[in-house]
Formats: sequence, structure tokens, C-alpha cells
Amino acid sequence: MTAFRVAELRRFSRRPALAPAPAGAVSLAMGEPDFPTPPQVVEAAVAALRGGHTHYADQKGLRELRAALASRLPSKPGRNWTADDVVVTHGATAALAAVVLATVGPGDRVVIPEPAYSLYADLVVLAGGTVSYVPLAPDLHWDLDALAAALPGAAMMIFSNPSNPTGIVHDEQELKALGELLDGSDVLVVSDEAYHRLVYPGHVFISALEIDSLRDRTVYVQTFSKTYAMTGWRVGYLAGPREVVEAAAQVHRTYNGSLNTAVQHAALAALDLPDSVVDAMVDRYRRRRELVVAHLSGVPGLHLVPPEGAFYGFLRYDAGLPSEVVARELAERKVMVRAGAEYGPSGEGHVRISFAAAEDDLWTGLARIVGHLGGAGS
Ligand SMILES: Cc1ncc(COP(=O)(O)O)c(C=O)c1O
Repeated sequence: MTAFRVAELRRFSRRPALAPAPAGAVSLAMGEPDFPTPPQVVEAAVAALRGGHTHYADQKGLRELRAALASRLPSKPGRNWTADDVVVTHGATAALAAVVLATVGPGDRVVIPEPAYSLYADLVVLAGGTVSYVPLAPDLHWDLDALAAALPGAAMMIFSNPSNPTGIVHDEQELKALGELLDGSDVLVVSDEAYHRLVYPGHVFISALEIDSLRDRTVYVQTFSKTYAMTGWRVGYLAGPREVVEAAAQVHRTYNGSLNTAVQHAALAALDLPDSVVDAMVDRYRRRRELVVAHLSGVPGLHLVPPEGAFYGFLRYDAGLPSEVVARELAERKVMVRAGAEYGPSGEGHVRISFAAAEDDLWTGLARIVGHLGGAGS
């Protein structure tokens, strides 16, 4: 027996329960950096444990960590961030859950440009709200006319930038246009900037918090998972309008309680890493992105908008089969990818490839994908 909301979630959700790749298969399915967590971070966690930091932390997160995170948010005259504006969460997952569960309820409509990270719509359904999907334009950027039609009366809009699954960076002009569309409305914007450090040459990322017309209505969501190769540590945070932050903090302490204390000390150490540590990983992703673009461009039957950020390629194929079937067929050929339909109706006809995987796996996996899907329908 399950509660009504869980039954609804099960009916709606297309998020797979993830399993490790079977023997002999390569996985390009996970948004999981293959790099180890930098040793300075590991050492800080060990030192914290040995130093006795083994008890509950402040439920909003260690004040020292929140202050350090606040000091790194873009401040503007009239908007200086403090520790009280930040809540440390169990990854971005719990930050997103806390915001949605704190602010969305039955009757509330949430606009999600899609294809989008599949957690967003699932959370809205869990909260009892209504998902209002707005398809992206053919170049995978926002369709501003469609958003203009969908946003009036909505409670919230959620997106990731850079985007999972499309690899698109929504630039300053696009964000400003969104701010104009929202002028005079009460729509809360949730900007999930998990991939902010992963932006490729020729593209410029700017946070929604730096856009005057968005700043005061934006809940900023961030994580240590991708930038610092810390997926297993489960540390993220959110910042935004004080009332929303307080409500999200209440949900988070109700669902999750306080975050592991030693992990928060490790997070502080991650913030202190020299830029070169993250830059070196970004450089490797840049080379992997080039590999993906080189392998998949010009292949009959396959179409790729070159990734601008994050570590995903959203590959359209001509083979006239549902993406869940294609993903299954590829798994049988020993390469795991994600079905595009997971990310919304417009994701059909696509598969998502992660290039967070090691180069060898990427070579092997791309060759298997081209071998199976290349030429189809052309
Ligand atoms: C856009 C986006 N947001 C949030 C998350 C979840 O991050 P975390 O590991 O911090 O829960 C992911 C993970 O894939 C993601 O792609």
C-alpha cells in the first residue's frame, strides 16, 4: 500500500532506478565525474572526524560554511548576502526538494522548459502541483514566446543553467529576456546552477543572481557534486529571498535534519582549493567534449547541438523508435545512455550521453552508439 502522492509520482515519473553498468558495458549514463575527490577535501573530512566533529551541526548548516558560501555569491549594491541567506542541504537534490515542497501545493502550476532535469517535474508532482512543460526551441534554447504564453499565473519556473540534459548555456541576453517577461508577476524562479564551472570556449555563463530583473525572485541552487567531484558527499546549498529560504530550511530540517558535520568541514576545504584544481578537471571535460563533437558530427542519422556547458550531449537520432527502446538496445550493445523521454515529451527521439566518463569508456561508448544508430533513417 502506498500513499496517494507516491502513487501519483510512480505513475508520472520516468526517472530510472539507477544500477551499475553490467560487466563489459561502458556507462555514459551517469552525471558522475570519474575524477577522485581532491585529496585536500578527503583529508579535511578525516581531520574533522579525528578532531571530534562528530555531533549534530546547526540545522541550517555550519555558520562558517554558510558565511563562506554567502561571501561567494554575486553581491550588488543593495544586495549583500549573509550566512542567514544560505541553507546547506543534502546535495542540490534536497535543496530542490526543500524549495518545491515549501512553496508548491495543489493548484500551483510550475513552468519547466523541457527537456529538463527529470527531478524537477517529479518533485512538483510529489508536492501536488501541476507541471506545465514548455518545449525548448529547436536550438535547445528557451522559446521565449512559448514561455510568455505559459508564465502568467504560474507559481514557479525551474531550470538548470548550464543545462542538464541539453548542455546549453542560457546566456545573459536570454536571462534578461526572461526577467522582462516576469516583470510585475509573482513567479518564483529556481535557478539550478550545478554546472556553473563547466562552460566551454565561446560561451559565457552568468548567474541568474547577477541579472537585476531576476535577482529578487530567484532561488539559487548549487552543489559541490559536479565542480569538486563530490557526488557521494551529498552537500549542496540554496540561497534566495529570505522568506523562501526560511520555509525551505524548515522543510529541510523536517525531512533531513542537519547535514553531516565532518562533510561540512570538507566542503569548507573544497572552497579553499586553488582554482587550478577545478580548472584541471574542466580542461579534461573540454577535451572530452571535443571528442564527443568530433565523433558524432556529420554522422548520417545523428544530430548533435554541440554542448556549450555541463557534461552532456543530447543526441537526436533519426531511427524512428522510442528513446526508451533505443536506450535498451544500446544497453544490449554494451553502452549505457539515458532515454531522452525521461527529460520531458520533447526529449523523445534523443538519448543523453554523459562525458563525465573516462576517455577510454567514451571512445568505446561513442563507437558503439555510432555503430548502432549511425545511418539509420538517412
Ligand atoms: C541539474 C542538476 N541539478 C541537481 C543535481 C543533483 O545534484 P546533487 O548530487 O547535489 O544532489 C544534478 C545531478 O545530476 C543535476 O544534473
